[in-house]
Amino acid sequence: MPRTLIAGNWKMHKTGAETAAFLDVFLPLSASFPADVDVAIAPPFTALGAAAERLRGHNRVGLGAQNVHWELQGAYTGEISAPMLAEHGVTYVIVGHSERRAQCNEVDLTCNLKVKTLLAHGFTPILAVGETFEERNTGSTDARIASQMHSGLKGLSEADVARIVLAYEPVWAIGTGQNCDPLEADRVMGNMRACVEGLRNVPILYGGSMKPENARGLLGQPDVDGGLIGGAALKAESFLGIVEAAKA
Ligand code: 13P
Repeated sequence: MPRTLIAGNWKMHKTGAETAAFLDVFLPLSASFPADVDVAIAPPFTALGAAAERLRGHNRVGLGAQNVHWELQGAYTGEISAPMLAEHGVTYVIVGHSERRAQCNEVDLTCNLKVKTLLAHGFTPILAVGETFEERNTGSTDARIASQMHSGLKGLSEADVARIVLAYEPVWAIGTGQNCDPLEADRVMGNMRACVEGLRNVPILYGGSMKPENARGLLGQPDVDGGLIGGAALKAESFLGIVEAAKA
């Protein structure tokens, strides 16, 4: 059985001070987290230091980053490497978020390079895939997702595939308040699990307007192993509401 993971993707929100303030409220609540649920936050790079400081000595909230470069060092202005993330205790790294695909030239090839670098250095990549509104309306959802999966995981051994996390994030559901129907999300995510060898125990997260109010319906589906949460992860109470909804 895949483990359940509830991860907050903070996107371009929160300074270091705001991150510390969030954790001052959120960490004391971790005593009530369900034992079988893993929880993580992915703040912006500049807030990782503040997060790492607050998380020292805590083992219930993991630290994630929102991107990484595939090279370990070099002339890559503005980029951040895996060893730089390791220094802050980052263990999860989101790769291929649709916002980066749409706005920052992220393509399947670079996702694949990043996943390989992360696995080689002991991180857990969270590879995000998902269809646009137009792709859904033209009936190409499944083909689009299979293609993102095959390209993103290309060249990986089955043992390496087993060490990743996947996220299904329909682009049209992100930040719109309109989540994917739970049964439809489960259908797509079941297809994802079947499309590459080695995914049997890999957590597949749903992302796209997940909130405490709709989390139970989504997380109750057999192939939905957790959530990648944007807006609702920015406030301790709503993030906690989703963590609690993940209880088996
Ligand atoms: P929202 O939860 O704000 O829709 O964002 C989802 C997301 O993009 C997480 O990566």
